Amino acid sequence: MRASLVAAHALLIIFLLSPIAHGFHEGGGEEYCLGCHNIYTSEGSQESSSALPTMITLKGSDPSSTCLRCHAAKGANQSVLSNDGSKFTPGGDFYWLQKTFTWTEGGVHYQSEADSHGHNVVALEYGLHADQRQSTAPGGRYPASSLACNSCHNPHATSVANGGAGSTTSLLTTYGADPVGDTTNGNYRLLGGEGYKGSHQGSGVTFTHGAPIAVADSSSWIETDSSHPTYGSGMSEWCANCHPAFLNSSTSGAGGKHPAGKGAKLNADLVKNYNSYTRSGDFKGTLSTAYLALVPFEVGASDVVFLTPSSTSGPGLGNANVMCLTCHRAHASAFNNIGRWDLETSFISDSHPQFGDGGASGNDLINSYYGRDMAAEFGETQRQLCNKCHVKD
Ligand code: HEC
Ligand code: HEC
Ligand code: HEC
Ligand code: HEC
Ligand code: HEC
Ligand code: HEC
Repeated sequence: MRASLVAAHALLIIFLLSPIAHGFHEGGGEEYCLGCHNIYTSEGSQESSSALPTMITLKGSDPSSTCLRCHAAKGANQSVLSNDGSKFTPGGDFYWLQKTFTWTEGGVHYQSEADSHGHNVVALEYGLHADQRQSTAPGGRYPASSLACNSCHNPHATSVANGGAGSTTSLLTTYGADPVGDTTNGNYRLLGGEGYKGSHQGSGVTFTHGAPIAVADSSSWIETDSSHPTYGSGMSEWCANCHPAFLNSSTSGAGGKHPAGKGAKLNADLVKNYNSYTRSGDFKGTLSTAYLALVPFEVGASDVVFLTPSSTSGPGLGNANVMCLTCHRAHASAFNNIGRWDLETSFISDSHPQFGDGGASGNDLINSYYGRDMAAEFGETQRQLCNKCHVKD
């Protein structure tokens, strides 16, 4: 990798002046840079950040493999890569990138391809490779071969200009929580903000939309209807840093893509539908318990103080909007096009992976829906979850 000495000095000084904070990415302590880097000093000593560094390298073979040293660790809460699909984090388990499912119906062969199950980050030490089917982000030009954890997340958590390691911003708390000591509020989940170059590997894409406003539930990494991030605004705009053609705030559906973004408000009918719909044929739900983690929405707030993490409430009148993560996950899922549910079947109970599918193993079926037994919870005749808003069943 390119080691920039000036940048390293500037950041190290800021870092050494920072108070001990909490949480790995909030910095503090000698261990911080050394969590991801080997630092070599002029004395030739390794693993020391007290002397001026002469060379900085990554601990892993590539950026994503470096992150996964901690984020694929067995039993770790913050893991986003398991060996059985059991990580039910909001972003999703990169496990599904290694699973292709095949089946036959009426003599026709179908498949749900591994590469279509998520953002194919390149992490050679973990067997994760670039997407083989597309060379750039659909609707944009971010190269698939450069996709890594740090394409989306800023490893140095410098939120203001997001200039990367050389930025003069101090270390940060990640989001929401009160800033500690010299730190300032950071971006939701360390996501790259406006001006972020989407990793240092020359992706050629500079983010033009800032990080989304959202607050995650700090008490649990497992997404359920009562423990989940509450999304405020800007997620679709942020995705559009790499997928500009998919951003469609117009409610008329112009452009052939589903409306998503700040302008794609839920009108009174859709709000009523979301809050009353519990499953196909049942409209006895109420606002205070309507939230379904499989079909999230943005509440339409641009300040985290208005967001209650893990609220079980459905959308209120006027402000809420549909967004990319209403239908997709950010990392990976068991389904084609990173669907939160199987977007390609009439009945949810016919979703793939299914028992008997080629490639399906272990608890793939139940893990694909985050541990939910969909047939028991919604019935065998539950149709597409689009119905939570549109009620066409
Ligand atoms: C040395 C271990 C370690 C490494 C390496 C590491 N992380 Fe983390 N990460 C953690 C831990 C532990 C947490 C849980 C929260 C905390 O302690 O900050 C975490 C939390 C996170 C979060 C959630 C932050 C929040 O507060 O919501 C993100 C996003 C993240 N890491 C991304 C990355 C990325 C991207 C990389 C690689 C560039 C990376 N991490 C490398 C240990 C690590
Ligand atoms: C969570 C992991 C992580 C932590 C912690 C971290 N870095 Fe980095 N660093 C990275 C990644 C990933 C890259 C990009 C490498 C690439 O794209 O090839 C990088 C790149 C760099 C570079 C190269 C110049 C640049 O901006 O790309 C320098 C210098 C650097 N880091 C210094 C530091 C210093 C000093 C610290 C401690 C204050 C630190 N890093 C903490 C992950 C981390
Ligand atoms: C395409 C962009 C993108 C890539 C690539 C990406 N992330 Fe994320 N990540 C996100 C977004 C967006 C969220 C917030 C998801 C949500 O709240 O629904 C997130 C959330 C997280 C979290 C919080 C837990 C969770 O799953 O919600 C961690 C930890 C994390 N990412 C680590 C990583 C690591 C490690 C990698 C590489 C192996 C990675 N991410 C690659 C966009 C990305
Ligand atoms: C840093 C650039 C980047 C960002 C930000 C990004 N994507 Fe992507 N996305 C890509 C690339 C590159 C591909 C094609 C390669 C792949 O699928 O791994 C892709 C593919 C996809 C696909 C098709 C998956 C497949 O393999 O068929 C979907 C769906 C998607 N992205 C949704 C999103 C959503 C939703 C967000 C916001 C949470 C987002 N993307 C943010 C770069 C990005
Ligand atoms: C969170 C609520 C929500 C969910 C879930 C949802 N939509 Fe929509 N949908 C909207 C909103 C908001 C609009 C904007 C127009 C309006 O107000 O009716 C819209 C508009 C549409 C339109 C009309 C757009 C046009 O071209 O004129 C279609 C068709 C549609 N949605 C299909 C779907 C399908 C298919 C799914 C599931 C894959 C789905 N929707 C899931 C909220 C939702
Ligand atoms: C209402 C549900 C819904 C919303 C909202 C939504 N999508 Fe999709 N998306 C789908 C479905 C269904 C497909 C697969 C069928 C298709 O290609 O139209 C898909 C496909 C995709 C693909 C793959 C297309 C390809 O050519 O390979 C990408 C990339 C994507 N969506 C990105 C996004 C982004 C970015 C947003 C937000 C700006 C978004 N989507 C909002 C339902 C949705």
